[in-house]
Amino acid sequence: MNGSKDQMFGVPRTVTEKFRFDAEVAAIFEDMISRSVPGYRQILQMLPSLIRCCAPPQGRYYDLGCSLGAGMLAMAEALRGGKGTIIGIDNSAAMIEQASQAIARCADTYECDLSMQCADILDYPIESADMVLMNFTLQFIELEKRDYLIRKIYDASEPGGILIVSEKVCFADPETNRTLIDIHHQYKADQGYSQLEISQKRDALEDVLIPETIDVHINRMRDAGYRIVTPWLQNLQFVSLLAIK
Ligand SMILES: C[S@@+](CC[C@H](N)C(=O)[O-])C[C@H]1O[C@@H](n2cnc3c(N)ncnc32)[C@H](O)[C@@H]1O
Repeated sequence: MNGSKDQMFGVPRTVTEKFRFDAEVAAIFEDMISRSVPGYRQILQMLPSLIRCCAPPQGRYYDLGCSLGAGMLAMAEALRGGKGTIIGIDNSAAMIEQASQAIARCADTYECDLSMQCADILDYPIESADMVLMNFTLQFIELEKRDYLIRKIYDASEPGGILIVSEKVCFADPETNRTLIDIHHQYKADQGYSQLEISQKRDALEDVLIPETIDVHINRMRDAGYRIVTPWLQNLQFVSLLAIK
């Protein structure tokens, strides 16, 4: 694993600062997401199979909110031997800086064209997309801008183009919601996080990561025009949805 161990929330904080994807987070992000999001590794492992099945090998692929480029590398793995284009977008300069170094180190391994841009995905012009990946990114976009973003991606996609949206979701039934949150907190404790780390991170993410129900996500993608919309992986309240234009 690259990067350092996530100990960001290990010391008591007097002021709750809102969570930001800054240099401090970029330095420990791989450890943080791997130990916090059950199923994250499985999504990355399964992506090449999904891509080989559903997307063209010479395609134009986007990873929106690419962070350190893990999704881009999964795409590159799927395109091995082919000449596709993979564009990663993130508005965190610290993430893009680290990701660019990691991608440059392994660029010779792949034949496809890999590039990254530091930009806001709401403004970035997406063109002729065969695949768009948003792996745990939409949850950080303001609620009122989410319909616009999904429609923009749909409009910029080729016929048959695919969209993968992975999200932390919530459940309409409060008891179901509470139970899954409790299991998730137990999972984090089992990954080595203390109760202090768990509660301080939860406070920092309040109103920053805004989950929606699976139905809200599915309806939004259907309303945008996607023909097929279905969950393809779920682990607790972490769900990945596949949509096909
Ligand atoms: C949880 S991380 C995504 C993880 C990553 N996709 C992966 O699979 O490892 C969310 C990322 O979205 C980025 N992000 C959030 N809002 C954004 C926006 N409006 N434009 C571009 N990137 C954004 C953040 O900087 C952060 O790197």
